Amino acid sequence: MFSRYKKQPAAQPVETATAPQAAAPAATAEKKAPTANAVARRPVQKKAAEVAVSDKDRKRKERLGEIKIELHRELLENLNLAALESAGESELRAEISAIASEILETRNIVLNREDRTQLNKELYDEVTGLGPLETLLQDDSVNDILVNGPQQIFIERFGKLELSDVTFKDEKHLMRIIDKIVSAVGRRVDESNPYVDARLADGSRFNAMVPPIAVDGSLVSIRKFKKDKLGIDDLVNFGAFTEEMAAYLQAAVSTRLNIIVSGGTGSGKTTTLNALSSFIDDAERILTIEDTAELQLQQTHVGRMESRPPNVEGKGEVSPRDCLKNALRMRPDRIIVGETRGAEVIDMLQAMNTGHDGSMTTIHANSARDGISRLENMIAMAGIEMPIKAVRSQISSAVNLIVQASRLQDGSRRMTSITEITGMEGDVISMQEIFKFQRVGLTPDNKIIGHFTATGVRSHYSERFRLWGFDLPPSIYEPTTV
Ligand SMILES: Nc1ncnc2c1ncn2[C@@H]1O[C@H](COP(=O)(O)OP(=O)(O)OP(=O)(O)O)[C@@H](O)[C@H]1O
Ligand SMILES: [Mg+2]
Repeated sequence: MFSRYKKQPAAQPVETATAPQAAAPAATAEKKAPTANAVARRPVQKKAAEVAVSDKDRKRKERLGEIKIELHRELLENLNLAALESAGESELRAEISAIASEILETRNIVLNREDRTQLNKELYDEVTGLGPLETLLQDDSVNDILVNGPQQIFIERFGKLELSDVTFKDEKHLMRIIDKIVSAVGRRVDESNPYVDARLADGSRFNAMVPPIAVDGSLVSIRKFKKDKLGIDDLVNFGAFTEEMAAYLQAAVSTRLNIIVSGGTGSGKTTTLNALSSFIDDAERILTIEDTAELQLQQTHVGRMESRPPNVEGKGEVSPRDCLKNALRMRPDRIIVGETRGAEVIDMLQAMNTGHDGSMTTIHANSARDGISRLENMIAMAGIEMPIKAVRSQISSAVNLIVQASRLQDGSRRMTSITEITGMEGDVISMQEIFKFQRVGLTPDNKIIGHFTATGVRSHYSERFRLWGFDLPPSIYEPTTV
């Protein structure tokens, strides 16, 4: 099965979109000389990276895998699980290694030192942790872990997806790990409740969907929790935005503009929101509302809320809207909603309009304009019947700033636009872009060439900034010339 993802031998011709039907020999296609005017389509690039695994490595892994499953079963029978809970890590590792050696000996299985160390590690992970996922969870360079059935685990590193060489033995093995995770948080997942959200012990966000809804084996997505969230300085250093944009954003947050961070999935919305929150004064009372608590605010006075989905009987739901309504009675100076995606939009806009300025949230959208449409749709879906002009006027007076986060095709994450909402013109919400990322091209190895620039438009809020003591120099609004 795994060999499907092995690298093809170099000599083999690469399949291209223009390749003729299977019946035609590939050689003739290659010989076809391009005519001067011919428009040649580029070969379709393989979307996902492949892992190079030698046959020897694979066989070794398979053998170890089989031994491991058997040993694991025997270990569970041999280990005193009650005593295990109180055992320290080194004690447990020694115990597992001793029992494993004993079993290997009685079965006449000889392993070299490297395999034995690997086996002991995997057994330990299996008994105490999340089995094969443990290595990936401990690898700090991995951002996301995406499991598509037992044999295929993708990881995201440096903004790019790649296939990892980690696999589960089979679907049963994968299900056992999923069960372990969800039962630890008092949830259940089976045919009648085929999907579940949970949080791992280390704070990582976890979602699983099991068969038969997941057709080819359970699907698992994990967004790893970063102990050290990227701060403003890190993001500037990574080239996610410039020092000028940071100074502007500091003025915007400090002068209590209502800010929406918009972006696609995994584009860095939560990271941006978290970084922006660092500009909030330490004296303020901040309340945060999230589906899964991811934000790590540095301030002293923070009240964190996590909404709760209904339980197995469909009861006990506490929606983000419930949390938000309650938060408004808790004397917040600022409200931060991790993501606005449903009916809570009404309360969010009302809060922004009625004294809880300086609030922030994120939405799924691909541009500032698109973000506004998303808000309009959410209001319509919440069953509020209001003329569109009234809806827009609510939005335009509630939201001051939309910050666009994007994951670009080379895997880099950047703040591609900062747009101010300036009011209404007729039925249309008027906005002005202040900063943007100007793309100019692509390097041969598909890295994006571009730069950040101001658009030349002075902020609608410059006077407010000045009055609040954030007198930004006019030069920051001048376009960058390269
Ligand atoms: N500018 C950046 N440079 C490098 N890595 C980043 C950057 N911004 C975010 N990341 C990393 O990308 C991953 C996704 O970021 P984040 O969770 O903020 O995205 P999101 O848009 O909130 O995702 P989702 O749609 O799943 O909620 C995280 O692991 C984060 O650490
Ligand atoms: Mg997020």
